[in-house]
Amino acid sequence: MAATCKLPSRTSLNNHLFRSEIPDQLRHLINDIAKAGKYVHNAIRTTDLGLAGSSNTFGEEQLKLDVLSNNIISEQLCESRLVESIASEEEANLETLNEAAPFSVVFDPLDGSSLLDANLAIGSIFGIYPKGTPIGRTPRDQVAALYLVYGPRTVLVYSAGKGVHAFYLNEVGEFILLKEKLIIKDELKTYSPGNLRAVSDTPAYRKMMNIWLDEAVTLRYSGGMVPDIHHLIIKGGGIFTNIGGSKYPQGKLRLLFECGPFAYLVEQAGGASSNGEKSLLDVQIHDIDQRTPIIIGAKSEVERVVRTLKGS
Ligand code: F6P
Ligand code: MN
Repeated sequence: MAATCKLPSRTSLNNHLFRSEIPDQLRHLINDIAKAGKYVHNAIRTTDLGLAGSSNTFGEEQLKLDVLSNNIISEQLCESRLVESIASEEEANLETLNEAAPFSVVFDPLDGSSLLDANLAIGSIFGIYPKGTPIGRTPRDQVAALYLVYGPRTVLVYSAGKGVHAFYLNEVGEFILLKEKLIIKDELKTYSPGNLRAVSDTPAYRKMMNIWLDEAVTLRYSGGMVPDIHHLIIKGGGIFTNIGGSKYPQGKLRLLFECGPFAYLVEQAGGASSNGEKSLLDVQIHDIDQRTPIIIGAKSEVERVVRTLKGS
């Protein structure tokens, strides 16, 4: 629907959602989550680096940033009035906020927070479901997913089932369209092999690693799921894995808070996701903190990794 008044030349997140005809309640919720993300962005920038969780240079106690981010997001979702229940990686239980509200939100408030003291990029991840418990559902039931990556710039990427779109946070605190309709092509531009310690007892993963080394594929791995998958979404190709083995028999990452939202976004962009057997969008959620192997990115490379891990 065209506006009758004159719109700013830049496209804001709200205007993009409106133009894309995302239903009003979902549009408001995505805006509310974006606002929560701005507070997390601010918390990251104003907490003394390396001192989060102890006292700062003035001797004041500081909450750990992942705990602080969890509190910020939970409070913003409470204020939103659109959220029936939440589940956070930080707490791993289902909490009712507002029984009459239409949505359930699952989130990882600050993924990769151990990278903070090294000043590497980190992120927040969100999955939005119709109201009710996620147990018994699959990530395909999500109506939207989004993440924020806090790097040299703060970038938000969302999908509400009509493509995948990226926004940057400008100087006055508004998310402005950076790139719309992001597409993951069937290209192996880069590889990001997580839980690589698994090669010690998982020969098929070692084989896959050797294939990438022999093919001289470019490695891009920071150890932060959000920037690492964001890299392949923004560049439009590549592969990210975190498979089972060694210390983590099911891989390190969680279906509900981490893999489910990214599977939604990557598949929306034309890529694929797998747990080694099927699309992550079709894996049933039976535990809030269930871990899963993840192979995600360009379609044919996901298929090749799955085949190689099966030993064929
Ligand atoms: O969940 C925390 C996390 O830091 C993710 O962001 C990241 O993808 C993963 O752990 C890194 O795992 P690994 O050390 O096994 O490669
Ligand atoms: Mn995490």
